Amino acid sequence: MAKGAFVNNLQEIRKRARKHIQEGAVTEGYRANREVVIKILNEALATEIVCVLRYKRHFYMAQGIDAANATQEFLQHATEEQAHADEISLRITQLGGEPNYSPVGLADRSHSEYVEGNGLIEMIQEDLIAERIAIDSYTEMIRYVGEDDVTTRRMLESILASEEEHANDMATLLEKMNPSLPKGKTSSN
Ligand SMILES: [Fe+2]
Ligand SMILES: [Fe+2]
Repeated sequence: MAKGAFVNNLQEIRKRARKHIQEGAVTEGYRANREVVIKILNEALATEIVCVLRYKRHFYMAQGIDAANATQEFLQHATEEQAHADEISLRITQLGGEPNYSPVGLADRSHSEYVEGNGLIEMIQEDLIAERIAIDSYTEMIRYVGEDDVTTRRMLESILASEEEHANDMATLLEKMNPSLPKGKTSSN
């Protein structure tokens, strides 16, 4: 009977769960290459840390020259990038890995760059570039993980949605600061 087969299967699943209990959240049903996923997540973690540092720098440098509530956006993004870093770190440990917080090689592990930027417009432009890089790399990661690690994929998808909002925020700020630049838009207000 199908039901019997299911029960047998369930017993087998329980047996396996007990056998590898030290492996935490990773079961034998885990289909992804764990080492590769941990490596990818550590690159994402480095990217997030660099984003926190860049937004913090921009937040403090923009004090006093804020023309379009940019400082508030910078601070909010710094906080959200930190939350992404925390989510990613937690997932790395669930997979039995170690989150890499070493400052040595941080910029090399990161997908996006730390660019200080001169003046508010350049800062916003650099943030927009970094967000677009993050969007591309999270999209790639989601494609790689696919159906093999649904929990990691869902986390990456929610972070991706947040990065898309960030990019949109920066594009909007840029437009407010310099209405003649983006997409040939020339309306003034
Ligand atoms: Fe982020
Ligand atoms: Fe972001």
